[in-house]
Amino acid sequence: MPLLKVEGLSKSFGGLQAVSGVSFQVAEGEILGLIGPNGSGKTTVLNLITGFLQPNAGAIWFCDENVVNLPRHQICRRGIARTFQLTKPFLNITALENVLVGRMYGRQPAPSRKAAEEESLALLERVGLGDKAHSLVKDLSLMQRKKVELARALAAKPKLLLLDEIMAGLNPAEVDDAMHLIREIRSWNITLIVVEHIVKAILGLCDRVVVLNMGEKIAEGAPQEIVHDPHVIEVYLGKVYA
Ligand SMILES: Nc1ncnc2c1ncn2[C@@H]1O[C@H](COP(=O)(O)OP(=O)(O)OP(=O)(O)O)[C@@H](O)[C@H]1O
Ligand SMILES: [Mg+2]
Repeated sequence: MPLLKVEGLSKSFGGLQAVSGVSFQVAEGEILGLIGPNGSGKTTVLNLITGFLQPNAGAIWFCDENVVNLPRHQICRRGIARTFQLTKPFLNITALENVLVGRMYGRQPAPSRKAAEEESLALLERVGLGDKAHSLVKDLSLMQRKKVELARALAAKPKLLLLDEIMAGLNPAEVDDAMHLIREIRSWNITLIVVEHIVKAILGLCDRVVVLNMGEKIAEGAPQEIVHDPHVIEVYLGKVYA
């Protein structure tokens, strides 16, 4: 049984078909890459899986339960967490307080405030931000803010974590750092869907890749196959390499 199974997912905004009959599966323990040109529907798919949007058609099976139309806190509680393409941490509170917010939702709420704080601090340490726990987020760098966002998502104790372009805007050394961290997160028994434009990261991280173009799935396979697929190169990778 796959951890996640998306079947015939469709979403339109007015006359625009943002996602059109998309189906794919994610096995437990996998890192699935979700790629495609700007506007191809990647973020919309993540919004549908996490209940931020409701589909016009299709099913989303998570642990054998159709989670379509569940409110998003219920989806979170079942074990799906995400980060946002535009990071949305609360800027005027500390990194630790941001993670605590995440700890209050999600699976297995902490037994006490003290336990929640200890766990949140441990998470910040695991993402390499222990020394910034008491810094205000507005004083942190982009990479550090992304780590806060990641720790906040991890605090919900997800089984499935969705990352929306977490590497965008990072320098090459930071990209390597982020790739290392994502592999580590997988080793904590967390399955991942990674939306990313950086080809090196897709090749270096993903077990499998799904390619969207204009809301439709146009290819699916091993990363090495995908980067040599003429159609994928034509609609997407040609532009990324250029
Ligand atoms: N809330 C919304 N209302 C109206 N149109 C939307 C909304 N969200 C997305 N769209 C449109 O749906 C299409 C798919 O957008 P989406 O954000 O899913 O693309 P994407 O693949 O994540 O792109 P990018 O790589 O630029 O992040 C785009 O044409 C976008 O303008
Ligand atoms: Mg997007």
